[in-house]
Amino acid sequence: MRNYTEITQLFETALQHEIEKIKQLQPSNLYSPVIYTLNMGGKRIRPALLTMAYEMFDDQIEKAFPAAMAIEMFHNFTLLHDDMMDGATMRRNKETIHIKYSNNTAILSGDAMSIISYDYINRCDTQHFREIIEIFTNTALKICEGQQYDMDFETRNDVTVDEYLNMIGLKTAILLAASLKIGALLANAPKTDAQLLYEFGFNLGMAFQLQDDYLDTYGDSKTFGKKIGGDIVSNKKTFLMLKTLEQAQGDQLNELIQLISEKTNNLQQKIERVKAIYNHVDVVSYSKEIMESYYNKAIAYFDRVNIEHNKKSELLHVAQKMMKRNN
Ligand code: IPE
Ligand code: IPE
Ligand code: MG
Ligand code: MG
Ligand code: MG
Repeated sequence: MRNYTEITQLFETALQHEIEKIKQLQPSNLYSPVIYTLNMGGKRIRPALLTMAYEMFDDQIEKAFPAAMAIEMFHNFTLLHDDMMDGATMRRNKETIHIKYSNNTAILSGDAMSIISYDYINRCDTQHFREIIEIFTNTALKICEGQQYDMDFETRNDVTVDEYLNMIGLKTAILLAASLKIGALLANAPKTDAQLLYEFGFNLGMAFQLQDDYLDTYGDSKTFGKKIGGDIVSNKKTFLMLKTLEQAQGDQLNELIQLISEKTNNLQQKIERVKAIYNHVDVVSYSKEIMESYYNKAIAYFDRVNIEHNKKSELLHVAQKMMKRNN
């Protein structure tokens, strides 16, 4: 079994081959932001999960690459629109598309990437073609639903933790889940194992977004690649925010409500004040606790996948590494 580094290197080579083809396309103002995005890095976690799930059941992993490409292309498309929606200026330590080019470019090049992703999924040579298309389409629409809730919650101060968990399930976890299931289906894995891998990916994805939210406030921008505090500035109802709204009392609770209700030009001060209240209620310990519970749930599903232990070890290793990530 290949490890994460080996898999991502093989995927990267295949991706570069596709990028060369995109470079031939015109108009370049539509496609050069696509190339810029694909070349700006990223962990390639979804294509890696898809390919590793494939390799558990079949070793011809290049058969997983069209679907892996589709998922990575789709993920990168969501980032173009997400950065515009979130007002994010930096990603993967580089300028975001809507800043480097324009809003219109982020919209249209993003649209093109979304369409190209369907072209890749169409290239899957599999007896499960219809099912894979259905999973892909369903997942794509659910991500839009999650992204809409994410925006709706910015202006609501009564969001519950359950609503938040539903939202991150839609915007993030199901894409990781779908990656694993599609990989397994392409390798003709038994249905039960493909579904167990879906559940594994979903719970891992929940922990992954909780970690993303944690890093948005507590990470180091050099390694995380995004501006720290963006979620606070946008009044995102992250787990950190919701748990603090639940735990804070008296003056601190009033201050927090004021901070997320009133407009301010002093963004740095807002970030520092919110963070001070987070620290006061020790929200990080709650966040670690819920992250761990999703991780443990993920592993419980993974344990039930009916295949020899040695075929599981690399994927398990990736899951463990994802929990300790700082990027
Ligand atoms: C960012 O995803 C968006 C989230 C769902 C948190 P990644 O953290 O996988 O981003 P890249 O592709 O590695 O940059
Ligand atoms: C991302 O959520 C979800 C999608 C892009 C679909 P975030 O808004 O938290 O992702 P980052 O932090 O910008 O990568
Ligand atoms: Mg964002
Ligand atoms: Mg967002
Ligand atoms: Mg984030």
